[in-house]
Amino acid sequence: MKYQAVRGARDLFGEDIKMFDRLEHLSQKILLSYAYEEIRTPIFEKVEVFNRSLGKGTDIVSKEMYAFKDRGNRELALRPEGTAPIVRAVIEKNLIKKDKVNRFFYKGAMFRYDRPQAGRYRQFYQVGAEIFGVHDPWLDMEIIEVAVKILQVVALEKFKLYINSLGCLECREKYIKVLCDYLISRSKELCPVCQNRINVNVLRVFDCKNKDCIKLLSEAPKILDYICQNCTKDFTLLKDYLDERGIEYIVDRALVRGLDYYTGSVFEIKTDMLGAQDALAAGGRYDSLVKELGGNDIPAVGFALGEDRIIEVLKKNNVSYKYQPKITLIAVEKNAKNEILQNMKYIDKLREKGYIVNYDISNRSVKSQMRMAHDKKSDFVVFLEGNDRFSLKNMETGKQEQIHGIELLKTLGAGI
Ligand code: HAM
Repeated sequence: MKYQAVRGARDLFGEDIKMFDRLEHLSQKILLSYAYEEIRTPIFEKVEVFNRSLGKGTDIVSKEMYAFKDRGNRELALRPEGTAPIVRAVIEKNLIKKDKVNRFFYKGAMFRYDRPQAGRYRQFYQVGAEIFGVHDPWLDMEIIEVAVKILQVVALEKFKLYINSLGCLECREKYIKVLCDYLISRSKELCPVCQNRINVNVLRVFDCKNKDCIKLLSEAPKILDYICQNCTKDFTLLKDYLDERGIEYIVDRALVRGLDYYTGSVFEIKTDMLGAQDALAAGGRYDSLVKELGGNDIPAVGFALGEDRIIEVLKKNNVSYKYQPKITLIAVEKNAKNEILQNMKYIDKLREKGYIVNYDISNRSVKSQMRMAHDKKSDFVVFLEGNDRFSLKNMETGKQEQIHGIELLKTLGAGI
């Protein structure tokens, strides 16, 4: 009996794992350089953490959560996103210094029971960042800047940034009334799902893909026309800061996001290379969530980027991973282990210098060892010819030279 991975969950290996590694490594480097500190939370939480944060009417909570009871009858869920667990953790461990800018980042697997398709998985990976403690549109800009910078640094070129403001809770309440009135007056023209959304999670009507709904919604009142003076000022400042930092954006008046915790600015970074699953990163301000989860009245803003999707776009653009140079050692005499032991001082030095050094200990023919060198896409092959003698072959140019002992290290830039 052969088993298969669960639908929507993937095994990652080979070139893929290098791409994930590289994306995470570069993201981490950028986040650390902006003074974000890493935080790791468990992969599962009490289900209530998500119900309260994301909103009961959201798709994630109502139908996509991997919720289960453990053997102690606790109601738990695999995390569908990273923000709610981080908020739980910073409150519990008292990690927020009041009125200071507290920056955190995280990376890891998230789980959502959605219909798998290109760019959408049931286990997927995010890198995210959250800032707690200060309400200032500068920080909304910084969060966007960091997300954009990560995409640029991993060589993802074509993407667009969409921004909107969902207003504070008061603006939103007023707007939702106006929107509901409008939708109810034309409810016969809406698809059944949107008709239901009027009562459950009305803002999500803007995500409907039905043509009639799209047309009707293009004429619907938009939240930007209903936000209060303070929210308007914040949104204007955010746009000014983005302009000053040279970050291009499009104001998308219909951008609403799928989670209830947002207040104020929201954004999505999209690509046109992935079909329907076009969002590569997303986030926004959520000033009420810390209080909602039992903490003090602490404002916050953050983002998460979808690693799986970013890597898919990079692969489509033929961006490949520049790995550490690889060397395959080839034992010429049929006594591989002995040859390797004799040359260990050189091998250790090469590894220290960052070379990937690979060898075969099974005394196969030179031809078979060369095949392995090709398979492993080696940059160099070193023939171990005994008594400190080597032949070094550059696999790209095909040039081969005989060298002695320490010369090998010098030639490979690993001299002592
Ligand atoms: P989100 O929009 O739900 O936001 O997810 C962020 C990103 O994760 C998406 O833009 C997408 O790239 C990726 N993603 C989401 N679902 C899947 C999936 N099923 N398969 C593959 N990739 C996926 C959040 O998660 C918020 N926590 C972001 C945030 C942080 N807001 C404030 N702070």
